[in-house]
Amino acid sequence: MNFKLWETSYNVNSFLKSIFLYEDRESQAPTEQFWLSTDLNNPFYTWLSQNEVKFTPGQVPRFVDGGVGRAYFLGNKVVKFTNNRVEANVAKASIGQSIPAAIISVWRTPIKQLWAILQKYVNVNIEQELKDAADIATVIMDDLKEKDPHFTHFPEDQMEKLASQAVTQWHKPTTLIPYIVSAMNAINQLYLKTGFTHDDAGPTNIARDPDTGHIVFHDLGPNSTKNFKARPFLDKMHQNREKLGLPAFTEV
Ligand SMILES: Nc1ncnc2c1ncn2[C@@H]1O[C@H](COP(=O)(O)OP(=O)(O)O)[C@@H](O)[C@H]1O
Ligand SMILES: [Mg+2]
Repeated sequence: MNFKLWETSYNVNSFLKSIFLYEDRESQAPTEQFWLSTDLNNPFYTWLSQNEVKFTPGQVPRFVDGGVGRAYFLGNKVVKFTNNRVEANVAKASIGQSIPAAIISVWRTPIKQLWAILQKYVNVNIEQELKDAADIATVIMDDLKEKDPHFTHFPEDQMEKLASQAVTQWHKPTTLIPYIVSAMNAINQLYLKTGFTHDDAGPTNIARDPDTGHIVFHDLGPNSTKNFKARPFLDKMHQNREKLGLPAFTEV
């Protein structure tokens, strides 16, 4: 839905116009306005209701800011706002895949370059070993990418060896090896299910499903710097999906 469409179909409240002005800012404080609407039929509330999110119109839920986005907590669900097109689309591609993500729905807001991702509340208070492992798996990936620009996922038969070499190199205990292999496996699963290679699956973006204990990535955003361009990531994702035999994918 683009802004024009929204404008013709709905009475645009001044709060929406005010967020519109913030379109180039980070997707954090301005997103509070979404919760403050007095129009109970606005598309945001409709989307929440359709997905059985329990919320109180006019009340900003508890939230946590990440590096760029903001996550709002509503019982056993979380609404994460992001301005990253890749993150939104990886999330969309992950809907219904219980591992290694917990995505329920993705809504493209009427604000340019802003998406809301609804996901299950997951456990980010994981053991330090898994955080360290995510860190190391990310470093290993960076190394492999440097050697092979076409890197997509960790080679199954070398994960143990790569993990073992890394703990030696970084003077970490060998007890970390199985955790590193688990983190690599989770990154591979995400690739096999979506066509996306998560290059920012580090300690702050890894969690566990509270019900199954499985590793999940609650932050599916790629490693991005100021002049980040989404298009190459998305093109690669489409190509990889074709290679993997995954269905063609319509971007959100
Ligand atoms: N599904 C979730 N369950 C529990 N906590 C979450 C969830 N999603 C996000 N969070 C919390 O919100 C923080 C910010 O979310 P994140 O997706 O990492 O944002 P950013 O893209 O800005 O890094 C996370 O570090 C985590 O503490
Ligand atoms: Mg994060």
